[in-house]
Amino acid sequence: MPIAATNVSDFLDAKAQRCESAMRDQLDALRQAPPELREAMAYSLFAGGKRLRPALVMGAAEIIVGDDCAALPAACAIEMIHTYSLIHDDLPCMDDDDLRRGKPTAHKKFGEAIAVLAGDALLTLAFDLAASTDRTDVVRLIAQAAGAEGMAGGQVLDIQSEGKMVTLDDLKSIHAAKTGALISASVCAGAMLTHADAAQLAALKTYGEYLGLAFQIADDILDVVGDEAAIGKPVGSDAGLDKSTYPGLVGLDRASALAREAADAAIDALTGFDDNANTFRALAAYVVDRNS
Ligand code: IPE
Ligand code: IPE
Ligand code: MG
Ligand code: MG
Ligand code: MG
Repeated sequence: MPIAATNVSDFLDAKAQRCESAMRDQLDALRQAPPELREAMAYSLFAGGKRLRPALVMGAAEIIVGDDCAALPAACAIEMIHTYSLIHDDLPCMDDDDLRRGKPTAHKKFGEAIAVLAGDALLTLAFDLAASTDRTDVVRLIAQAAGAEGMAGGQVLDIQSEGKMVTLDDLKSIHAAKTGALISASVCAGAMLTHADAAQLAALKTYGEYLGLAFQIADDILDVVGDEAAIGKPVGSDAGLDKSTYPGLVGLDRASALAREAADAAIDALTGFDDNANTFRALAAYVVDRNS
């Protein structure tokens, strides 16, 4: 596919198709797994989803070498980690939500034990797949982004911030960890797998960090003004739990302005790239303008 394509939805659709077909093969290969576990993994994995993270892995590879083949296993691995994080995020002990990707959440459909284990198994399968790249640096990048100093740590901070007044800096750090880390790692994984040089990698890392922040601010906004049918998850979940969010802390207008500022900073990080990075530029705008 042409790497200068600026039609974000065509880009996301094309990447989603490739990634979904590869993930389907991965699940089909789990022949010895208990059928209910495999069913629960597939239920959450193929419930829809924008597939932004795999698109970023593959898109970064295209920017560097014009081809995304080397990026496909890592793209699938990161989408599996993301899906596991959603399953666990929705559990009664966390955000206690009943709807995800337009369907009943995994624990509603399969019970809590199977939901927890489907998350565990997706996370583990992700590292099996990541290891197939034979790139220890990429495996470690993904592990660090998903772990205690990344997404899992961010989820802890998110829970601990419920009902508290946090500063804008604190909230930025929470969002950077719970959401920015995996989004930034997606971009970096694609770049590393295609042997980006140090300057390219640093620029793409900065792009991913700002994109991740913009993405989570937009997610906070959609929790207030979004349409449940479009976002496929409950509206008002954050307010119900007294979560620390951008709209809660600075109001909707300022939150939108800060999301846009972060998206602009993401675009600025791409100045060293030519038109090959136009899809990533368009993605930054999409992330704040999206309605799902
Ligand atoms: C939702 O992520 C959780 C956040 C990190 C904000 P997405 O909005 O990417 O969810 P899907 O994958 O499209 O369902
Ligand atoms: C979740 O943030 C981030 C994750 C790491 C899953 P949210 O709790 O705001 O995500 P949604 O709104 O439920 O998708
Ligand atoms: Mg949450
Ligand atoms: Mg949630
Ligand atoms: Mg949210």
